[in-house]
Amino acid sequence: MAAALLSSRRAVAAAVACVLALALGAAAQLSPTFYDGSCPNLQSIVRSAMAAAVQQEPRMGASILRLFFHDCFVQGCDASVLLDDSPTLTGEKNAAPNANSLRGYEVIDSIKSQVEAACPGTVSCADILALAARDGVNLLSGPTWAVPLGRRDTRTASQASANSNLPSPSSSAATLVSAFASKGLDSRDLVALSGAHTVGSARCSSFRSRVYNDTNINSGFAAKRRQICAAQSGGTDGNLAPLDALSPVRFDNGYFRNVVGQFGLLHSDQELFGAGGPVDGITTQYARNGAAFARDFITAMIKMGNISPLTGSSGEIRANCRKPN
Ligand code: HEM
Ligand SMILES: *[C@@H]1O[C@H](CO)[C@@H](O)[C@H](O)[C@H]1NC(C)=O
Repeated sequence: MAAALLSSRRAVAAAVACVLALALGAAAQLSPTFYDGSCPNLQSIVRSAMAAAVQQEPRMGASILRLFFHDCFVQGCDASVLLDDSPTLTGEKNAAPNANSLRGYEVIDSIKSQVEAACPGTVSCADILALAARDGVNLLSGPTWAVPLGRRDTRTASQASANSNLPSPSSSAATLVSAFASKGLDSRDLVALSGAHTVGSARCSSFRSRVYNDTNINSGFAAKRRQICAAQSGGTDGNLAPLDALSPVRFDNGYFRNVVGQFGLLHSDQELFGAGGPVDGITTQYARNGAAFARDFITAMIKMGNISPLTGSSGEIRANCRKPN
């Protein structure tokens, strides 16, 4: 009797939540089994292509993960970032945060052509990117998880949104918190997702002002980075340094240990510790507890992957990730 009452209350609560979600315009649910019937080999195709790419160049796991972030933060996870400029479309690849920086497009093209050969016209570029990002993390010894699927591809892109929605490395903690909040991501998601900077590299132009002008930086570390990054912009702009010098191609919690020690490479990285506010405690927690970071990173990646997907009959399944059909 009590159990029946409880379960009927639960049913009412679920129905109310559902109506609320519809009223708020929440997207249809993505599901990890979306392609199980229509493209059963999808996940193994993506996995082996990513394994080959990461074996050839470990940094590629990082580059593909960043590509997914830059997709999801601009119009949602709709593969807008993959569209090339054309006479009729201005893509996002030449937006300031992406130009001469974002990479891995050829890897996605190659996976897409293998997936098209197996399951023509079935799997979106947006879903391929979501799976490839997950595999990139796992292939660099990070965690793995089931990726919700069923996104479709946009026919449009927005260079202006790429410029305004993607946070800059000069951002303050408050700016980062609000940029993520505007995408439905809280401070815990912000800190966990920033842990992606446990792999990959940044250009001198992204860390120049940090290593010359910030005071909350280990002085020996700053001096070492200045050796490859001249104070004035010019020939050294493209020189690379690892975001996590402790373990540049290992997806672990080293990033947080760096940040707590004032070894953050980007100004925005160091903002996650020492500026005060709720992010400090989360950064400390992840620096001490790699399992807590891995758990929260998975949660946050699934949340980020749920930003405004196109589903149902919206958008399209692109034949070529670089252009609308
Ligand atoms: C919190 C705000 C963030 C800022 C301000 C930021 C900024 C940057 C910058 C400036 C770079 C170096 C780019 C270059 O110099 O070419 C970079 C690299 C990278 N970012 Fe972020 N990022 C942020 C969040 C994220 C998130 C949420 C992810 C993924 C979940 C991510 C993944 C990466 C990866 C993996 C790299 C290295 C890419 C490579 O080596 O090719 N970042 N980020
Ligand atoms: C450091 O700060 C000064 C004063 O704001 C500025 O003129 C200079 O360009 C900065 N240097 C770098 C490398 O960002």
